[in-house]
Amino acid sequence: MGTYDKESDSQLYWNEEGGSKWVENIDLVETMMVPMSDELLNAIAAKSGEQVLDVGCGGGVTSMKLAQQVGEEGKVIGVDVSEPILSVARDRAAGIANIEFEHSDATSAKLGKERFDIITSRFGVMFFDDPVIAFSNMHGSLKPEGRLVFMCWRGIEENPWLGATAKAAFDIVGAPAEKPDPKAPGPFSLGDSVHLQNILQTSGFHSVNLTATDKTMPMGSLDNALGFLMKMGPVAEAIKEASVEQKELVTSAVSEVLSSFNSNKGLMVPGATWIVTASK
Ligand SMILES: C[S@@+](CC[C@H](N)C(=O)[O-])C[C@H]1O[C@@H](n2cnc3c(N)ncnc32)[C@H](O)[C@@H]1O
Repeated sequence: MGTYDKESDSQLYWNEEGGSKWVENIDLVETMMVPMSDELLNAIAAKSGEQVLDVGCGGGVTSMKLAQQVGEEGKVIGVDVSEPILSVARDRAAGIANIEFEHSDATSAKLGKERFDIITSRFGVMFFDDPVIAFSNMHGSLKPEGRLVFMCWRGIEENPWLGATAKAAFDIVGAPAEKPDPKAPGPFSLGDSVHLQNILQTSGFHSVNLTATDKTMPMGSLDNALGFLMKMGPVAEAIKEASVEQKELVTSAVSEVLSSFNSNKGLMVPGATWIVTASK
């Protein structure tokens, strides 16, 4: 596997602003994902000795769980385009013999032919500039009997911790003049089931199955959640050019939305995902 040969917007984003913000907020985002991860790991059902590719592996949490499950006869390769995020994964997995991390773009990485029993991802496959090229590349590296099992977000409107908070921000600063393309690279680019199925079928996969998986996710205290949303994601984008006064108004509007998810366990926000399975 080699490194990428051309820098796309996504590569730049995840190596610069996006990567440093992800690392800064990694405890919060990874804690949020725990209930979703459990569902994904059940769906993967990794067995001893299997060879696994974890695409957009981030800080390596899923890769490490899978490395335990496949045991010393198996192996997990995590690929990620972001050097700052991968360095977290490398530190965490130091000393684990059956895991390897590669700094590569999954679109162009030399993944090897028919090498993996499992190709998986937890929220790492929605950022490709050309998803068909990326999924075709993965398809080539899957063994004939192998399985693709990944998790991605459904639509932003079904994920109010991002959708409703972004709307609250836009109500103050004004929505972008041009409506963003929902299929452009970003967290919700694979939310539309027909679009997602088309991408996978065009990339060569068969028996594509999408299971809607809904979980309540812990977002911690209001202050922590607010701190995260004001720095990363659609609210942060909306306030990039905002005045100090507008930012204050957005802070209180987003707090109000988040407060509606308060519980005796802190903020518990609904999350809506697809667990996608497909075969070669
Ligand atoms: C939302 S994070 C998820 C990280 C990790 N899977 C997790 O669940 O904690 C998305 C990850 O995908 C990576 N990524 C984005 N585009 C990629 C690409 N083209 N190839 C490989 N990784 C990519 C990012 O660098 C980032 O680490």
